[in-house]
Amino acid sequence: ISLKQYNTFGVEAYARWYTEIESEEDLKQLFSDSKWKAVDRLVLGGGSNLLLTKDFDGLVIRMNIKGIVSHIEGANVLVEAGAGEIWHNLVMHCVDKGFAGMENLSLIPGSVGASPIQNIGAYGVELKDVFHSCRVFFIETGEIREFERAACEFGYRESIFKNQLKGKIIITLVRFQLSTIPVLNLSYGAIGDELQKRGITEPTIKDVSDVVSHIRVSKLPDPSMIGNSGSFFKNPVITESEFKQIQSVFPDTVHFCLPNSTVKLAAGWLIEQCGWKGKKVGETGTWKNQALVLVNYGNATGTEVYDLSTRIIEDVKSKFGVALEREVNII
Ligand code: EPU
Repeated sequence: ISLKQYNTFGVEAYARWYTEIESEEDLKQLFSDSKWKAVDRLVLGGGSNLLLTKDFDGLVIRMNIKGIVSHIEGANVLVEAGAGEIWHNLVMHCVDKGFAGMENLSLIPGSVGASPIQNIGAYGVELKDVFHSCRVFFIETGEIREFERAACEFGYRESIFKNQLKGKIIITLVRFQLSTIPVLNLSYGAIGDELQKRGITEPTIKDVSDVVSHIRVSKLPDPSMIGNSGSFFKNPVITESEFKQIQSVFPDTVHFCLPNSTVKLAAGWLIEQCGWKGKKVGETGTWKNQALVLVNYGNATGTEVYDLSTRIIEDVKSKFGVALEREVNII
């Protein structure tokens, strides 16, 4: 089966086997045949954080568990969503109902079940800020376990699910802790600027969601038009002393100071300084408005995109001495 329509990069690749999962019961049934425990597996949500560089000689499992249920107690709202729900639809559902907390995460591509794996984040908010718990299927034993926030070991684009538990589990449902009393996060400058431009002085969560969507659309290519997987690399985190060295040569280096004497650099800026912003190489390239996003102009292969990412890593390394790490999963 072709995976072209199941990855937002829109590259062609074939899977040996393919199945869709509608319930936890389906998962139990699937893995009751131990054949499927032995083969390579690829679990797909929205297919928005992966680059397929070759055919997949294994089983592709597309998660299609649906359903959104909310429990309201005073101002506290617990929202449960099936892994197969589309992330942005969940955000819209919550914004419409007045459940605050996720509005900054509007328009992130992908599925609910994938969201904890890399602790998605944007515009000053990370998934972990609204995450309550999730249900996790263990492939080897067939059991379902509950994971509270602390057990997930969330970090910047990190969690236990992409580390120790990689390949061993499948997330089936995620719960979010929201509130009917909004505490807006307007720390990201462009949100405030845009609200001001619109003359909004007392923003609602709907206003914040609209503004975030507007910023995303202006900076990021729409995957339904131009294949991409959002940020291709992570923003590198380096030590303060490493940063001082870079800053002595490049005084304008875009950076954010973090706790523990570490500094986060803007990978998009580093890539742009290397002259890569908006560059086209065959059918691939970097996006004109955001150099951190690699794109497929139509007929790129996964390998072409991967090779471009290698060239970018090499250039950033030789100019700044910083090693960029890919954020997208490479298959
Ligand atoms: N910048 C450049 N040139 C570029 C791109 C960025 O100079 O081509 C500079 C910007 O001017 C800005 C800084 O880099 O000063 C940061 O840029 P931006 O605010 O666009 O965010 P980012 O750090 O590049 C991260 C996330 C995005 C998220 C945005 C907004 C990562 C890897 N990416 O990007 O997440 O939407 O912040 O919060 O952390 C994703 O993970 O797929 C994703 C899109």
